Amino acid sequence: MRIDIISVVPELMESPFKTSILKRAMEKGLAEVHFHNIRDWSINKHRQIDDEPYGGGAGMVMMVEPLDKCISELKSQRDYDEIIYLTPDGETLNQRIANTLSIKKNLIFLCGHYKGIDQRVRDLHITKEISIGDYVLTGGELAACVLADSVIRLLPGVLNDEQSALTDSFQDDLLSPPIYTRPEVYKDLAVPKILLSGNFAAIEDWRHDEAVRITKERRPDLLE
Ligand code: ADE
Repeated sequence: MRIDIISVVPELMESPFKTSILKRAMEKGLAEVHFHNIRDWSINKHRQIDDEPYGGGAGMVMMVEPLDKCISELKSQRDYDEIIYLTPDGETLNQRIANTLSIKKNLIFLCGHYKGIDQRVRDLHITKEISIGDYVLTGGELAACVLADSVIRLLPGVLNDEQSALTDSFQDDLLSPPIYTRPEVYKDLAVPKILLSGNFAAIEDWRHDEAVRITKERRPDLLE
């Protein structure tokens, strides 16, 4: 999978891809992430990429020309499955969306800043708009990292234990059951006896019952 991320502050997104599991995914050649600074496509010597909104109002708007030039250049180099704009106005990210994107080959993530992007960029290029939640960030960069992480970890070979993405919270619309490791008792808190029983069928049943109990308690909407 290849992800091209377009931003005014690409340096904000460097470390997540240079650390831990995402770094290993890059090194193994399972995912490539390329950053593009919108200022490299600005149309004047001041490297301007934003301007005042027509009709007045607070905040600046990201201009159509630099974004159109940048996206058009990328599109001339390969076919993209989706061109995604990260914005609080988008569809809220969930595991289903991450699963769907994880089988794509080439993606563009466009990070918004200021008040947003000129509508004509959306009309010309954007195929999907995604929000990571009902709150407003300073820009789309952190949202792009969240989206990339949720997708890349699903690529075959990225996680060591192939099973672990399949048993995630949300993969089957249930939250996770409680988990424990050594010691058996800590500050009077004992590990549930069933987990020490060696009876794996009974353990699976217990885990499922606990997952249902916790989901009912915290996220009954997932069971509807
Ligand atoms: N940009 C600013 N806030 C955002 C959010 N919640 N999700 C995606 N992109 C954003």
